[in-house]
Amino acid sequence: MTTVTTAHKNAVGTAHTRVEGRDKVTGAARYAGEVPFADLAHGWLVLSTVARGRIREIDTAPVLGLPGVLAVLDHRNAPRVETDYAGLMGSKPDPTCAVFQHDRVPHLGWPVALVVAETSEQAREAAEALVVHYEQEPHDVDFTGEHPDAYALDGHMPAVAEKGDLDAELAASAVVLDAEYTTPEEHHNPMEPHAATARWEDGRLEVVDSNQGATWVVGELASLFSLDPASVRVRSEHVGGGFGSKGVRAHQVAAVMAATVLQRPVRVVLTRRQMFSLAGYRSPTVQRVRLGADAEGRLRALEHRSVSLTSTVHEFVEPSAGVARVMYDADAHHTANRVVRLDVPTPTWMRAPGEAPGSFALEAALDELAEKCGIDPIELRLRNEPDKGPVSGLPFAGRDLPACFREGARRFGWADRDPRPGLRRDGRWLLGTGTAAASFHAGAMPSTATVTAHPDGTFTVRIAAADIGTGARTALTLIAADALRVPPERVRVRIGDSDFGPAMIAGGSMGTRSWAWAVTAAADELRDRLALGTGVPAEGITVRSDTTAAIGALAPAERHSFGAQFAEVAVDVTTGEVRVRRMLGIFAAGRIVNPLTARGQFEGGMVWGISMALHEEAIRDRATGGHVGADLAGYHVATHADVPDIEADWIEDADPRDPVGIKGIGEIGIVGAAAAIANAVWHATGVRHRSLPIRPDRVILAGGPSA
Ligand code: MOS
Repeated sequence: MTTVTTAHKNAVGTAHTRVEGRDKVTGAARYAGEVPFADLAHGWLVLSTVARGRIREIDTAPVLGLPGVLAVLDHRNAPRVETDYAGLMGSKPDPTCAVFQHDRVPHLGWPVALVVAETSEQAREAAEALVVHYEQEPHDVDFTGEHPDAYALDGHMPAVAEKGDLDAELAASAVVLDAEYTTPEEHHNPMEPHAATARWEDGRLEVVDSNQGATWVVGELASLFSLDPASVRVRSEHVGGGFGSKGVRAHQVAAVMAATVLQRPVRVVLTRRQMFSLAGYRSPTVQRVRLGADAEGRLRALEHRSVSLTSTVHEFVEPSAGVARVMYDADAHHTANRVVRLDVPTPTWMRAPGEAPGSFALEAALDELAEKCGIDPIELRLRNEPDKGPVSGLPFAGRDLPACFREGARRFGWADRDPRPGLRRDGRWLLGTGTAAASFHAGAMPSTATVTAHPDGTFTVRIAAADIGTGARTALTLIAADALRVPPERVRVRIGDSDFGPAMIAGGSMGTRSWAWAVTAAADELRDRLALGTGVPAEGITVRSDTTAAIGALAPAERHSFGAQFAEVAVDVTTGEVRVRRMLGIFAAGRIVNPLTARGQFEGGMVWGISMALHEEAIRDRATGGHVGADLAGYHVATHADVPDIEADWIEDADPRDPVGIKGIGEIGIVGAAAAIANAVWHATGVRHRSLPIRPDRVILAGGPSA
């Protein structure tokens, strides 16, 4: 008989290496593009080479005669799909994933055909040989921010929130700041490219895929192909990064179409270059921030207007102006997110959507205001700590930003800082330090889980969670172990299979919290059942949970994680180099489940912040409408040599409204990080850089204090 009263210490809160770590480093862990299938065929997407127009002709015949080629799917022969449905978050799907339905080309890199062959090499060769004729039309890919056609667009928040008389409060302010900030187009670039294999088996569609949520992909594929969701199975055991880009995209849909037409398994993998057109990206932003404060630095007026872009086929908004709705109050408080439609691919969620670019503008503006007021930037923020949600009016479900700043300032050595810019030198380098606040929404979404007790005293947890590299599988193992009151070694966690029942995606920093809630609920009930002492039969005892009701009963509140970012930089204004010398992030982000992987998650976000501040920028060529250098040679991301001594830590912040105390840590690491670096660059040089990335040419042109 199973005993469940084994003495154990809490697993949650102790550092635990990844339970699948050995499989990953030995290559035993299979990713979507390498799971073996008998009789597998390979599809290769052909993307448009014009930015706008119409497909006039596709010369299929010569390609069908090439070695190994099995089929060419395009808008003339591909199966029809349904796009008139409400997908994730209740909105219609991005029709970019509904491939080959018409002859229109709305951007460069639009999927126009799939070539299927016996081998991947044959498919690629044939795809590259396929000649497509277009009727080309003039295109516009030029994003300039404010534009006569820009319009307010709701995303996961209302586009506009306004209270108070902005002009009156600005006029009455002792100090006013009015500045424009820009951020470029940025791409997720997960290590593992998008990949999917689709096959029909016993009347069921099975897709082995790399995604952030099997439930999500099942829902979209079932809707697109008018299938009963129960007849679709999506598996995604290991995922090499997602960052918002791994939902349903052209390659899964194309693979399902080809598998349907050919009645054999078909795999479609995106190349790194194709990902720049098909995986989504973060829109560039132009943001105007106006702040008005009294002589003590208390905000009377706050205005944050952001313009981002979307495609002509789908509406997506980067809600950068949303940050201020949580962070700071003012008598007049106006925020608005607007978009311009251009002949470009549809942008999407990218790690800290809204918060990442929005916090750059807002937290840089706060730094400028602090300078104008002659107040320390941390003190300025502390003076503007709101006691309730500035726009929502809701109570905060925990807001320990001041404690993050206090602890961060102590450890970073902020008290010794001379606020004057352009004074510190180390040889050719000018040195400076900067800080910024961070926040990210904390929430949970309904999920289901099962926990099975086996006669040998071990347990199996099943939940359609996705471990996109965060360590979610390991976190859930620790959580289940504590809930079952057994050591983690007795718990097996199986994830990434839609047959385990509906569950939240790995997204919105809500994955682990949502899944942990469901796992805990099932484990608690199972422990009660086992306590009855009736023994465990050979087939085990399985308990299923569903957290829909519990999460629905949560009282309304402004739920966020918070943090304080610190950076020290060295700037050579002659060569234009900016080197980050050290970073510190202190977070109040709920109970930390696994300090080892949590630290990696925070630090990974902070590295993104370095990358965002100094490196990342996708450039669009106005003439062709496509990217210049759509690869990891042309698109710079921070590498080891760019990343200095980074430290991330946290303060006690367990959320009493969550069964495990979790808030969520997936995205907050990047928030404020770029602003802290930009603020440090000002402190080093005396020059404000309001456009990211802070490239060498920008640094040289802006100059600095004379030697
Ligand atoms: Mo994240 S951008 O919610 O995957």
